[in-house]
Parts: sequence; C-alpha cells; structure tokens
Amino acid sequence: MPRRKKIYEGKAKTLFEGPEPGTLVQYFKDDATAFNAEKRDVIEGKGVLNNILSEYFMQGLGDIGVPTHFIRRLNMREQLVRACEIIPLEIIVRNYAAGSISKRLGIDEGTRLPRPIIEYCYKDDALGDPLVSEEHIAAFGWASSQDMDDIVSLALRVNDFMSGVMRAVGIRLVDFKIEIGRVYDGDFQRLIVADEISPDSCRLWDMETDQKLDKDVFRRDLGSLTDAYSEVARRLGVLPKGAVPMAKPTLIN
Ligand SMILES: Nc1ncnc2c1ncn2[C@@H]1O[C@H](COP(=O)(O)OP(=O)(O)OP(=O)(O)O)[C@@H](O)[C@H]1O
Ligand SMILES: [Mg+2]
Repeated sequence: MPRRKKIYEGKAKTLFEGPEPGTLVQYFKDDATAFNAEKRDVIEGKGVLNNILSEYFMQGLGDIGVPTHFIRRLNMREQLVRACEIIPLEIIVRNYAAGSISKRLGIDEGTRLPRPIIEYCYKDDALGDPLVSEEHIAAFGWASSQDMDDIVSLALRVNDFMSGVMRAVGIRLVDFKIEIGRVYDGDFQRLIVADEISPDSCRLWDMETDQKLDKDVFRRDLGSLTDAYSEVARRLGVLPKGAVPMAKPTLIN
C-alpha cells in the first residue's frame, strides 16, 4: 500500500490526504498538551477515546441537521472527514465560569453565567491564541459578518445539543471550543463544524460531585485522564471494548 501523504502534524492529531479529493484522514494521537504546549505527556488510549467520542458527537449533530466535517470512522484511531478551510478562530461557548474567564473577570469557577457567552480566540500558537473581538475579526477579514451570523448560530446549536446529551448522563457542559471550516459546493460556500468535539475541547463536570471529566484532569494533575475520558464514553454507551487499557497488565512470575 502506498504511504499516505501527511498534510499536517498538530499537537493532538495528524492529518493525511484522504482517499478521494476533498477528504482528509484525521489520526488521533495519544499526545496531551496544555498551556500552549508547555506541559506535555503521552496518555495511553486518549486518541482512541477522542476518536470515538468525536464521532459520536459529530454524528449526533449531523442527525439534527448541524453540518459537520465528519464522514465516517475508519478504525480505532482514524476518521474520514471533509477537507475545509479552517477559519482561524477558536469559538468558545461558556455556560458556567471556568478557566480563563474566571481569571480574567474574577468570577468563581462553577458560577452559572446569565446566558451562554461566546468568545473568539485567534488561532496562533506563537501568540498563545489571544482573545479577539468581532471588530478584530471584521477588520482583519478572518470572517465576514454573514459568516459571523452563521458561526454564532452553529455555536449555539452545538451548545444546545451537547448540553442535552451530557445532561442525560449526569454531566454538566461547562464550556467548549469548536473550530469551523469553509467548504465550497460549486460557487456556493457554507460553514461546517470541523476539527473535533471531545473531552480535550470541552469542560465536563459530574452534576452531583463536580468531578472533572475533561482535559483539566491533565492540566491540573487531578488523576487519570484515561479514566476520566473512559467514564464519559461509558456513560454515553460508546466505550470501546478492550481497546483502552484501564490498568497496566501485571507480570506473573
Ligand atoms: N476538516 C478539516 N479540514 C482541514 N483542517 C482541519 C479539519 N479539521 C481540523 N483541521 C485542522 O487540523 C489540525 C488538527 O490537529 P491538532 O488539533 O493536533 O492541531 P493543533 O496542534 O491543536 O494545532 P492548531 O493550532 O492548528 O489547532 C488543526 O490545525 C485543525 O485546525
Ligand atoms: Mg487542535
């Protein structure tokens, strides 16, 4: 089999050329990074879990008519997606205060926000993905005002869907980040949800105990990240059997 052409190697995923034009293969790695890659580790099984969880969420979004890049999962670590032009923004939706908004505005983590708040960060690792306003986005031409209307509507639909799915399994969707891409159908262009939706890109807290079931477990050294992500997958009924090592095998002499 010819070697696939690597298009991009990111921190958590690698993109390869897909089998048909306009497609890409997304390979989910086990690498975890935080604080703009200052903290890094390899977490066995993380890629498998994120691949399956992102499939689950993207497919569910597709089922309710929210367009996404997801085509199909290929194997435990790879999925086929539609190639798009990523808008260089991280779109963050917050339902409760946590992380940077708590620091910036002095709001206790876990405080319910008056309504979902959307924030934008400019995707640039060298600059540490700085927060930007709609004024910057318009002035620098990163997205048009029509795009911004579509982005807000997509972000809120993802928020409603994800909040409901999580609530059904006793998990609070505190916040999440998505990336949105542009695709062309002839002369017509539209925006779709791209990249991934997984515990790497959401804050998920157990509703009863506030236990964290997302990447903050890694950022803040709160225990096993694989256990946290497995718990999310288990509650949603998509835990891959035998694929994720729950504990290291013991050598018997
Ligand atoms: N459907 C798609 N078409 C094109 N590019 C995509 C698509 N989905 C995701 N991407 C891009 O693929 C890369 C995924 O890799 P990864 O998440 O590991 O990147 P990263 O290290 O977080 O870097 P970045 O700062 O670019 O997001 C990201 O750059 C993301 O924007
Ligand atoms: Mg990324």
